[in-house]
Amino acid sequence: MTDPRLEALHQSLPALRLSREPGDLEHYGRDWTRRWAPAPLAVAWPASIEEVQGVVRWANAQGAALVPSGGRTGLSGGAVAAGGELVLSLERMNRVLGFDAVDRTLTVQPGIALQAVQEAAQAHGLQYPVDFGARGSCSIGGNIATNAGGIRVIRYGNTREWIAGLKLVTGAGELLDLNRALVKNSSGYDLRHLAIGAEGTLGVVVEATLKLTDPAPPAQTLLLALPSFEVLMRVFAEFRARLRLQAFEFLTDRGLAHVVAHGGTDPFDARHPYYVVAEYDAADAAQEAAGLAAFEACAEAGWIVDGAIAQSQAQAQQLWRLREGITEAVARYRPYKNDVSVRVAAMPAFLAEAQALLGEAYPRFEVVWFGHIGDGNLHINVLQPDDVADADFMRQCAHVTELLAGLLKRHGGSISAEHGIGLVKKPYLDSTRSPQEIALMRGLRRVFDPNGVLNPGKLFD
Ligand code: MLT
Ligand code: ZN
Repeated sequence: MTDPRLEALHQSLPALRLSREPGDLEHYGRDWTRRWAPAPLAVAWPASIEEVQGVVRWANAQGAALVPSGGRTGLSGGAVAAGGELVLSLERMNRVLGFDAVDRTLTVQPGIALQAVQEAAQAHGLQYPVDFGARGSCSIGGNIATNAGGIRVIRYGNTREWIAGLKLVTGAGELLDLNRALVKNSSGYDLRHLAIGAEGTLGVVVEATLKLTDPAPPAQTLLLALPSFEVLMRVFAEFRARLRLQAFEFLTDRGLAHVVAHGGTDPFDARHPYYVVAEYDAADAAQEAAGLAAFEACAEAGWIVDGAIAQSQAQAQQLWRLREGITEAVARYRPYKNDVSVRVAAMPAFLAEAQALLGEAYPRFEVVWFGHIGDGNLHINVLQPDDVADADFMRQCAHVTELLAGLLKRHGGSISAEHGIGLVKKPYLDSTRSPQEIALMRGLRRVFDPNGVLNPGKLFD
């Protein structure tokens, strides 16, 4: 440790694990965006709340910046350390601390993977219902920092709905015990909800008490083939009116082709322009019949041209892979991601305009659309061609994002539905939030983190 600031950190917290190994700096300095060259000062792995507080106090004393870090599966640059920050990895704080059968809550440390949380809930005969493709790698602390959504929001809501209590170390190093898992608590501002979705700019989540619920009823999984984009919301309306949906996810032929090229299995003989993976309650014969009736009604109307129904858990997983595998299948093109949302009711009008805009604006680039259509959330992935340089690609993507932001503003939407603002969407925050809101957000940041040591430069400057 040659840097005097790191010497001081080591002196004050001798047991804290620290590294300046180039491999660690490279690995912990980046997230799944792969756009910024990692350049952290060092990586620290605290093992306790006290060590997190110690690191935050050190950062205040030394004028150092911290990047709280979980699984770094984020797609907006929120966990990137490219400017000499200390990465505060919560990887070692990854245990289940307790289960309460009466409250039906699970208390965990922030570094635990989402999948481990789901498995711990299952072991108690319950479920933690937030779910998405990165479940094995992302951490619950990161889920909380971005208010992560995923594939079951249509039924269960976002991460926010499932946080009963939070322990937070503020930017001043104070420990807050927020809401203490109370079901009812009408005692003023609910600071827990300010921390959720704050992208690590108000505090470091050091413990979370998660709500659990009954296991999901047995479900049926369907892959639907659609002839045109225009019918998508009609099929959704029909399915939602007739069934208890657990998921309703959309993808295009391009997305499917990328997954198939990566080993996914297309159950159809012909290719179709649009697809939906739908999952609905099928606990008894009546619910199963309702599913088939919904399918037939849409088929008769010409809105569905083919369908595949999973006959086993393995087949359901194969169908899900066609949707969940897209992120990994297109990762080598380092896609520029737009993660946008509008109210579900505004979706048809927004989609029509967005499709026209993107068709005109990106003539050279391959655009892969998919998303949580039932939540009004669309992922627009622009793939970088091998022969287009980074700067040129980013310049063109920024131009189109500007146009998209204008469209979202007109439709009352958001430039980030579930990935966060981070570095990628920072220039467009004002398309979603008013100047008054942004001023209040900045003010809150100063209250929680007076010296701005937590994740500086993310969300806003
Ligand atoms: C998804 O819905 O699969 C995730 O948000 C990841 C992504 O957008 O690539
Ligand atoms: Zn998503």
